[in-house]
Amino acid sequence: MSFDLSMIGVESGLQYETVYTTISNDGEKDAAVIGFVYLGGDSVSCSIFEDSQTLKNVMDSGEYVVNITQDPFIFTYCTISGLDECYFTDDEDLAILKDAGSYLIVDVEEVLEKSPRHYPVKSEGSVFEIRGRIRDMEINDSSVKAFNRGFGCLIDSLVNYTRYGLVDDEMKKFYDERLEENQRIINKVGDSGSIKAMELLKNNQEK
Ligand SMILES: Cc1cc2nc3c(=O)[nH]c(=O)nc-3n(C[C@H](O)[C@H](O)[C@H](O)COP(=O)(O)O)c2cc1C
Repeated sequence: MSFDLSMIGVESGLQYETVYTTISNDGEKDAAVIGFVYLGGDSVSCSIFEDSQTLKNVMDSGEYVVNITQDPFIFTYCTISGLDECYFTDDEDLAILKDAGSYLIVDVEEVLEKSPRHYPVKSEGSVFEIRGRIRDMEINDSSVKAFNRGFGCLIDSLVNYTRYGLVDDEMKKFYDERLEENQRIINKVGDSGSIKAMELLKNNQEK
């Protein structure tokens, strides 16, 4: 089966920041911010670090829900403390965010263990690449698009560019390093427009 994710701002091959919702064996719902990659058709992928509740729930249940939202508090609560029950729908067999613009229900197809050296982190733990198939897609509000971090990194670099001539050497060094890191992220997750725009900016900065 094929799904049209362009309606929710998702391009094949790119990564988006989304909220994964899962249920544990004892029925407890969990929400976590996880990068979502659409591979075309009904195929999806993500990489989840060892020791997260999401990984445990995904392995145990064989399914998960990818929620498309741009709510800053949902992203923040998920990351710093966990999301209160009131954010979820009343469904007992699936964890879904009540106010998600859209959501995808995914069945796990394949789990591949990867070395953490493929990721910019200092961790001994494994990372698991989870390949899945979309079982269902529900769009509540198509004006809510999936968030791509690449564009945010480009904007951050543009702001720093306009300030470069106004700051001391220490801050210039910080901006230079930030530019390198933003370009790394854009090359990894950004769309072709953000990649080209970043090259343009970098060439201009180096002149
Ligand atoms: C923007 C953003 C993107 C993230 N992407 C991932 C990811 O792709 N894989 C992952 O394992 N953790 C990712 N994280 C970290 C998890 O959200 C974090 O470890 C979370 O606490 C896991 O929660 P859980 O134990 O409830 O699953 C991301 C965090 C943020 C803020």
